Amino acid sequence: MAAGLAAVVAASGMVMAQGRDSRDQVRFPEGFNWCVATAAHQIEGYNEHSDWWLWEEIPGNVKNGEHSGAACDHWNRLEEDTALLRDLGVRQYRFSVEWAKIEPREGEFDEAALEHYEREVALLIESGIDPLVTLHHFTMPQWLRAKGGWEWEGAPAAFERYAALVYRRLGPHVRDWVSINEPMVHVVGGYLAGLTPPGKTDVNELAVAVLGMLRSHARAYRVMHEMAAEAGREIRVGFAHHLRVFTAAHALNPLDQFGAKMLDRAFNWSFIDAIETGRFRVHIPFVINVDERIENLAGTQDFLGINYYTRDLVRMNFEPPLYMSIEVNRDARLTDLEWEIYPEGFEKVLRRAHRRYPRYPIIITENGLADSRDAMRIDFLKSHLAVLSGLIDEGVPIEGYCHWSFMDNFEWIEGFEPRFGLYEVDYSTFERRPRPSALWYTRTIRDNGFVW
Ligand code: FCB
Repeated sequence: MAAGLAAVVAASGMVMAQGRDSRDQVRFPEGFNWCVATAAHQIEGYNEHSDWWLWEEIPGNVKNGEHSGAACDHWNRLEEDTALLRDLGVRQYRFSVEWAKIEPREGEFDEAALEHYEREVALLIESGIDPLVTLHHFTMPQWLRAKGGWEWEGAPAAFERYAALVYRRLGPHVRDWVSINEPMVHVVGGYLAGLTPPGKTDVNELAVAVLGMLRSHARAYRVMHEMAAEAGREIRVGFAHHLRVFTAAHALNPLDQFGAKMLDRAFNWSFIDAIETGRFRVHIPFVINVDERIENLAGTQDFLGINYYTRDLVRMNFEPPLYMSIEVNRDARLTDLEWEIYPEGFEKVLRRAHRRYPRYPIIITENGLADSRDAMRIDFLKSHLAVLSGLIDEGVPIEGYCHWSFMDNFEWIEGFEPRFGLYEVDYSTFERRPRPSALWYTRTIRDNGFVW
């Protein structure tokens, strides 16, 4: 398979070269960090000590009663999967290490799990691929969940200890770190929609969990930087922030406009503003009102990690707890999960993020779509990458792009049905097959751009 992919890409070189003079070239600067992303729970398999493992056992929690189970069996396929990453030609690979595997019981650390991740990092480095390591991607150990998760006052100390341990083991080879993946998505699912662990629908608890995550992030940021400084190493720590576009369902309805504005502030900016200023402020009338300073938080990010997928239409209604509903623009092109394909929104959120925080480099830590037939993925990539290239030309410091995802995987409450992968996974054999979009991505990486 490896040779096959390389051969197809080599054969297509002519076409790309001939098209070079066309006006519709999309180019990237030398050294642009082409990347793909995954998360441990979604691909490794048997994450038995995590809160999600238990969550999936409860009927109705995951579509079609599916369970992550062996997932993509990535845990047992490190060599094979690293070879596929090499085939793709990526310069960076974003993946997460699993807290529940590293610390299955409070204070007990699993040496085999730590060695496993050391091996994963070593394989990447040998292959010339930079690891971008996420410490927390939606899952946590069951013991921590039992204590209240991020709401537990001991969570920040526990996260610091875990981060320090992972840093001690992987630090020598990893420069870029994501502390927490999509904190707002994590709490909206778990504390507002009640669809993910801990399955609550309580905005006050949501706020407590957010404060816990902010404190945890700050402590991880600081301990890792202290350790790096002692060792004379440079590292960068950020978090992966999900930015969405919220548009009034009725463009001229002031209530819908108000709702869209509130959600934009609360979901898109409250967490990242807190990391910048040290103060978490969120206010949606009748829904939530929090204003709290957090010690040692201000300035604890070295890059903006941005995940972008889609936009929502917002309609005000009279139903608690939010008094608004989220809808999809049905006139637009939709992915298999019925998410609107909206590259204009990618440009919008990136411009806004850069305007708000001009001093940080930007890494696109996730962007992709569910597309089982691979019918839309190349176009999706083209339109979203064109946005990046245009912004880079204007001077926006976008360093890299991680496509979600390297391979099909367990998509949380949606189970295995959505197909986000550049590689298709056959879950009965675990065989991985490159989709046409994987070949396209490889050529684009090789040419550092594409012809539209
Ligand atoms: C993001 C998550 C990632 C994956 C994609 C589709 O919100 O970070 O794990 O589920 O969506």
